[in-house]
Amino acid sequence: MIRFIDELELAGKKVFLRVDFNVPLNEKLEITDDNRIKAALPTIRNALENGARLIVASHLGRPKGKRVPELSLAPVAERLGLLLEQKVEMAPDCIGYEVEKMANALQDGEVLMLENLRFYKGETENDPSFADALASLCEVYVNDAFAVSHRAHASVVGVPERTKVCGAGFLMKNEITYFHKAMADPVRPLLAILGGAKVSSKLGAIQNILPKVDSLIIGGAMANTFLLAKGYSVGKSLVEPDLVETAKDIMKMAENSSTTLLLPVDVVVAPELGPDVPYDEVPVDKIPDDMMVLDIGPKTVDMFVDEIKKAQTIVWNGPMGAFEIEPFDRGTVAIARAVGSSPALSIVGGGDTGAAVKVAGESDNVSYISTGGGAFLTLLEGKELPGIVALEKCAGS
Ligand code: 3PG
Repeated sequence: MIRFIDELELAGKKVFLRVDFNVPLNEKLEITDDNRIKAALPTIRNALENGARLIVASHLGRPKGKRVPELSLAPVAERLGLLLEQKVEMAPDCIGYEVEKMANALQDGEVLMLENLRFYKGETENDPSFADALASLCEVYVNDAFAVSHRAHASVVGVPERTKVCGAGFLMKNEITYFHKAMADPVRPLLAILGGAKVSSKLGAIQNILPKVDSLIIGGAMANTFLLAKGYSVGKSLVEPDLVETAKDIMKMAENSSTTLLLPVDVVVAPELGPDVPYDEVPVDKIPDDMMVLDIGPKTVDMFVDEIKKAQTIVWNGPMGAFEIEPFDRGTVAIARAVGSSPALSIVGGGDTGAAVKVAGESDNVSYISTGGGAFLTLLEGKELPGIVALEKCAGS
């Protein structure tokens, strides 16, 4: 049984809080989207109000065991301080004597932010001595980093293995609760919408959810592989020919089940991906050889929107087209609007999909936007998250 932060005794305790503050930075090292920081605020505030001596730990990017100055968490500590309206001390490192001294000097209700955990290879390799060094900083471990909980890294599994009292934060609680409501105990009809570039990255998810959902919409460039499997030519489109047989198997599986599988019937094509390129809308059996599919077409939008209207629960992962560039955002935006105006429980997962919902102005109208990309997909694949398993096994849980 996982315990949650509000069930733990935190007063006067050094609490190691693993968050996922892997936020996008621009070339001036300014944070361009602080949603992940804001999402952890309820947990951080609860810990501070209850007298925790808070040690906040995160990774940023993939520095691969090297100290990369551009990937310092210093700008994140500053933004956290602004949001909390209190000082957030920035540690020069994440382990070592200096960090221990700073952690030991914390008073109740104070915050220390550790430097990027991935400046050490020991983090991603879950090296025992690195995990020992992190664990030695704290008496209580809290994981609110859903988005990295699919990684068996030192701060995700090694530290809770070495800490007597562990729990999950409120963000983690929300993520688990919404996912469970949608996939384990859904009000039916349950509709899944999958998009994005590659079938290969979503194959596990398709195979796991196909028998569980009432209908499955497949859009985005990954639909091209299915169109090829149906015998259509897809021109210059992004496609995975080695997965054509798998796509055929999936379509057969759907045919032999009660699940409705919906694929595009028309698409938006252009000679290349870019702004201001000429484009056309064509049925899927008329894709020209010198064109590539960049979005779903208007007939497909209507068909998908009709399906969305029937659903009582909707899970969506992956855009319907190259939504970063107009006009190839239209399909994704139309789907976001339909999901946003549906009274169904709607859960959106994956960085791209969350961004698309934001672009469409529908962020406040969907039930929940997950902070997880890979972690959300891992749950869709029906797998357990190592970070959650570690909390379940923790000695004091
Ligand atoms: C994410 O952004 O999805 C998480 O922070 C995990 O990052 P990673 O894929 O580099 O492990």
